[in-house]
Amino acid sequence: MSEQLAILGGPQACPTGTVKPWPPIDDIDRELVMASLNQTTHTYGPNSTAFEQEFAAWNGNEHCITTNSGTAALHMCVVACECGPGDEVIVPAYSWSSSVTCVLHHNAIPVFVDIDWDTINIDVDKIEAAITPRTKAIIVVHLHGLAVNMEKVLDIARRHNLKVIEDACQAHGATFDGKKVGTMGDCAAFSLNQNKCLTCGEGGMFVTDDEDMLFRARQLWSFGETRTPAETRDYHAYALGWMYRNSDLAAAFGRAQLSKLDSYLEQQKVNARRLTECLQDVPYLILPTEPERHGHNFYNYTIRFDMEALGQAEDPAAYRNKMLKALQAEGVGTGVWQSWILPRMTVFQAKNGYGEGCPWACPHAAEVDYSPEQFPVAEKHANSHTGMTMPLRSPNGPDVAELTAAGFRKVMENLDALDEVDWDAQK
Ligand SMILES: Cc1ncc(COP(=O)(O)O)c(C=O)c1O
Repeated sequence: MSEQLAILGGPQACPTGTVKPWPPIDDIDRELVMASLNQTTHTYGPNSTAFEQEFAAWNGNEHCITTNSGTAALHMCVVACECGPGDEVIVPAYSWSSSVTCVLHHNAIPVFVDIDWDTINIDVDKIEAAITPRTKAIIVVHLHGLAVNMEKVLDIARRHNLKVIEDACQAHGATFDGKKVGTMGDCAAFSLNQNKCLTCGEGGMFVTDDEDMLFRARQLWSFGETRTPAETRDYHAYALGWMYRNSDLAAAFGRAQLSKLDSYLEQQKVNARRLTECLQDVPYLILPTEPERHGHNFYNYTIRFDMEALGQAEDPAAYRNKMLKALQAEGVGTGVWQSWILPRMTVFQAKNGYGEGCPWACPHAAEVDYSPEQFPVAEKHANSHTGMTMPLRSPNGPDVAELTAAGFRKVMENLDALDEVDWDAQK
């Protein structure tokens, strides 16, 4: 293969069009979605209740509520755990924004903890130092499909009488000590948006084994009412409620996808292992870890560039972005997942939640410090990573992993050629 980089006019290592789109749609999807369309209930309907039962059985939960997003399910978790004005909730400094803004939705206060470099998850050894008398709960995010060490988290929670919320939005089927995520904490949220390992276009799942949590979550989910649309409603708001239900059509699509989820996850693991084999000796790459006791689902195969070895530790993000342009030109489906650590985001720096300083200015709340310097590991990760989702998804197989790896190898073994690129023309 020509070693001329594609960004300089050479042939692509992974030709555009190699990666097949996600999710695969077949007759199972068509039949269930058409059957939903052909019946008369298009709001929360029979497919919605069936989807809840089937997902609960698949994951091993007592109760499940379908929602219109993972964010809605996270807000339901916050309410299920009775977090409210002035309560502090411990969260990781690096995740999706709504892993943390869900806390603000109910006037509670997020308190950030730095991440662990190897797992990219909350540093479980730093959680205890962040606990105050106001701490009510811990949100753990099983980021990129790797479960947090739940033994340590549950031990801390037990000793300090805290609730544990699992943000499992990216982690369908991931395990810790053989237990599926979403079965270890008090309650959990899954996302079903298009990128996720289980999708119905847009959607989410709230799960718990606790009846009282189910009740509070359901109230928030449907206008503060206490009866589901499957029962006789009295249309009375018993508490503050939102409208977080999803539709029968989305549930029908979700049920079809759920019936194929185990085979999707199996394929994803095979692809990830092949990618790791092929990338093992490519220079300057730090590959994802799968520590003992953790079963990764490889939702996002995240690589860090070794910026010290590259001599680029001064301005790592700028050099990372150049390497990414070269990789993308090769046809490699990789990119930055989240370049901001959460405390750097304006909503936290300006504390502009509801205006007038709320909820931080609430008389129940204590002062919290969001200076980004407290989270150096999250910052280092944000500036040096690149991630991949679609090349690993079914129906793509190990052949796509091999071409993806070939693109990485070509760029990483020819980094000197990046000096020849007209970067102004690339902007
Ligand atoms: C870790 C994490 N939490 C929460 C969410 C929010 O899920 P949704 O987009 O379904 O609201 C996402 C979605 O990208 C996520 O990746």
